[in-house]
Amino acid sequence: MKRLVANKIDVNTYSNFNEIIQNQVELDVSIDFDKQQMYGIVKTKYEIINPSLKHIILDLHGPDISSVNLITEKLDEIPLKYDIYDKNEDKDALGTPLIINLEPLKNENNEEYEKMFKDKEITICIQFNTNEKCNGIQYLTKEQTYTKQYPFMFTQCEAILCRTLFPCQDTPSVKAKYKVRTSISSPLTFLFGGITKSHYYDSKEKKEIMCFEQNIPIPSYLVAFVAGELEFAKISKRCGVWAEKGLAAKAANEFIDAEKYIEIAENYLNHPYEWETYNILVLPFSFPFGGMENPNLTFVTPALLAGDRSMSNVIGHEISHSWTGNLVTNKNWANFWVNEGFTKFMERKLDKNLLGEEMAKLESIVGNNSLISAIKMFGEDSQFTCLSPDFSGIDPDDGFSTIPYEKGYQFLVYLEERVGEDLFREVMSKYIDTYKYKSVDWTDFKKIYEEHVTEKLNKTDARKILDGIDWNKWVTEKGFPTYKMEFKSKYTGEVEDLIQQFLDNKEKPENALKLFKDWHTNVKLTFLDEINKNIKDFDDNLILKIKKELNLVEDYNDDVKAIWYEITLEKGLNDEIDNIKNFLQTHGRLKYLKPLYLGWIKVNLEEARKFFDENKYLYHPIARRLIQNKFDSEK
Ligand code: BES
Ligand code: ZN
Repeated sequence: MKRLVANKIDVNTYSNFNEIIQNQVELDVSIDFDKQQMYGIVKTKYEIINPSLKHIILDLHGPDISSVNLITEKLDEIPLKYDIYDKNEDKDALGTPLIINLEPLKNENNEEYEKMFKDKEITICIQFNTNEKCNGIQYLTKEQTYTKQYPFMFTQCEAILCRTLFPCQDTPSVKAKYKVRTSISSPLTFLFGGITKSHYYDSKEKKEIMCFEQNIPIPSYLVAFVAGELEFAKISKRCGVWAEKGLAAKAANEFIDAEKYIEIAENYLNHPYEWETYNILVLPFSFPFGGMENPNLTFVTPALLAGDRSMSNVIGHEISHSWTGNLVTNKNWANFWVNEGFTKFMERKLDKNLLGEEMAKLESIVGNNSLISAIKMFGEDSQFTCLSPDFSGIDPDDGFSTIPYEKGYQFLVYLEERVGEDLFREVMSKYIDTYKYKSVDWTDFKKIYEEHVTEKLNKTDARKILDGIDWNKWVTEKGFPTYKMEFKSKYTGEVEDLIQQFLDNKEKPENALKLFKDWHTNVKLTFLDEINKNIKDFDDNLILKIKKELNLVEDYNDDVKAIWYEITLEKGLNDEIDNIKNFLQTHGRLKYLKPLYLGWIKVNLEEARKFFDENKYLYHPIARRLIQNKFDSEK
């Protein structure tokens, strides 16, 4: 067999999507909660590009395959020969692809073989089941759920985990439409990120049958399933929330702004929300992200249910992906910033409109602080600090950080400042119109930007602006952006004052508690970030005093708690360790787990390791793997 090489356009897939493309995917799946397995059939219609195509290479990472068949026009099934390419290097980040051999057909069933190339079309049906190696699915026992009555399962496919559910062309360069059918026993609900087409009781199977469709072509990383005891609450005509039984009403109240966010985005981009419905699914705490933009069904962590809507920017962010990411998609993971940087930019536009300029500014300050700590964490010389890292041979999750988000955001603010807000908004709108349903890299955006500026400004002005922009430098340079954005809010003075009062070690800074309590979460975060950045100036007693004076951390949201715990770990204080342990047993969001485990490792490696070993099965497989890596690199 020829040596397998990753694709040139997307180095994180083995699939030969330059020769053949998946257009329509039909999945028929069932969940076996006892065995913790998903089994099913994936029937895919492909368009043949290369007239001398010999193999179909699909990404696969975990699932067992029991048959691969060609489906004829008369719906007969013809078995196809296939190999699973196992390099036996057990740490291959890309998995063990499935290679379907079309050549034997030539001799054994020439008529079908000829027809396939004449029609440039082929339909293939694969029977599969998942197993414990499939990191894209987490199963929870009933004890791990809110009502403790029924088990639960959910998927997470971004970046390259769709291949851990079923064989596919697992690359954001390829988009397909989906049809999903499933059967499940009441009172459990099964959902797919699409539109529900039918739901009925099958008396023969004694099961609920649910059918879904996604008729806007989507990349594989947006495929999403969930099954559990779920309930629904409406937010507006097209928006709603799904949550574990008992939580939906609270969630609907927390995410009440969803409809407004959609309308603001439609307005800004001058492009309608194309997906018809927008629902949010609140997962159990092990969900490893704040939010995931699965189409029609954003997945979120329950940590967003702060009670005060203080984390609603995550909803604004995921809604923004409905355009940047889900309509216009990064064509490979080196262009992840084109998904996330653009979405950050949109998120802050929406917040500026909904919550005011100050709030958006504060968010960009908090964001910049996270950029600074991410660059410090990787080291300024790490290739992960550039906007477009090289992910050859690497699982993109291993390079994940806020850098593509915040450096990408700052680049777009820079580009916006060159031409003004109005012109830039037209560029964004044109970008969506031009590339919707397609996959792009940053040069595609550059083209629209340059075209539009040239069209709208006089020649000399346009030249002057465009000549001054060094796109390559922005995209390839490591470390901090050379361009320095203005990061000041109207609260910066108050924050600095309070910090100074503590540093001057005043007996009791005046009104400190009231001031702090009344600050919006984002102001609190900038205050705590300042302490964290200048941690050497704060001795242990001062930290304990701040804790006492400001009531840290019981009353505040999880973002505030997490950074406070980070600060106490940084100081090596044992004071909060029980709270930290409790937090780590009830939170699965990587944004919190990573810095807290890293901080703990620095203070007491053995204690942290023991705790992680005892608790790691609370976490999602993705989180477990990434935190395990941190311990492994300490050996
Ligand atoms: N698409 C991302 C989450 C993601 C990225 C999952 C890469 C897997 C691999 C999502 O849109 C996101 O960015 N979530 C953020 C929200 C925040 C930026 C407001 C999160 O989870 O923190
Ligand atoms: Zn995002």
